[in-house]
Amino acid sequence: MSGLPDPTFELSEEQIAFYHEHGYLAIDQITTSGEVESIREGYDEIFSKRAGREEGMEYDLAGSDEDDARPKLPQILEPKNYSEAFRNTQFESNAAHIARQLLGEGIEQRGSHAIFKPAGYGAPTPWHQDEAYWNPGKNYHSISVWMPLQEATLDNGCMQFLPGAQKLEVLNHHNIGNDPRVQGLELDDGQVDLSNAVGCPLPAGGATIHGGRMPHYTSANTSDTPRRAYILMFHVPQPLRDTPRDFYWQKSTRTYAAEKREAAKSS
Ligand code: NI
Repeated sequence: MSGLPDPTFELSEEQIAFYHEHGYLAIDQITTSGEVESIREGYDEIFSKRAGREEGMEYDLAGSDEDDARPKLPQILEPKNYSEAFRNTQFESNAAHIARQLLGEGIEQRGSHAIFKPAGYGAPTPWHQDEAYWNPGKNYHSISVWMPLQEATLDNGCMQFLPGAQKLEVLNHHNIGNDPRVQGLELDDGQVDLSNAVGCPLPAGGATIHGGRMPHYTSANTSDTPRRAYILMFHVPQPLRDTPRDFYWQKSTRTYAAEKREAAKSS
């Protein structure tokens, strides 16, 4: 992680304890408002040109992703490949420091993505656990740090969590709408008690933190402004599992974006 500025933020003992007990954390400010503004400019630029679409790095997380369909929940993987604004940020430095505080030494940055909910049109991100997307043969010790680039509210799609549910195993998932062309996953009904959900409204440049098994959700964007979120993931690499799990929902998924990523790899 060379090239990053020194961290300027540290979790308190209380915040660390809160995270370990409840499985999530919300913080009011993880970077400066100036940096939020510069990332937001880069963000709007890459989404307006759908950067990364040809190589399958931009796609509609909640739709079947045909080229002529208006995306309801566009996502760009590794946005720093498409815009300078995402490189060597204070946000990344502070998020890495938080990861070290919560996960211990040996952390690595393992991915980043940007999820956009267009004003008045952005789809919900249904309840899911991130680990349901990952390798069923691996163990994970990881966090995601989710930062909104404008205020995040219950109406535009702030994060919602189920306190304590980070201790669950990976539950059963299916593709959104049971459509195997859709990348996005959704928890099968009836496995968790959603009446305990906690919403985390945040100012621009705040952040929420959650691990791979914490169920989470964001609503549709019913507001008249876009909702932009930028997410960094960190992990401490773990040994393989003795027995891989059966994440059967992954086997039937067939997205255009995955085909394009395969083609880009082999060309
Ligand atoms: Ni997620």
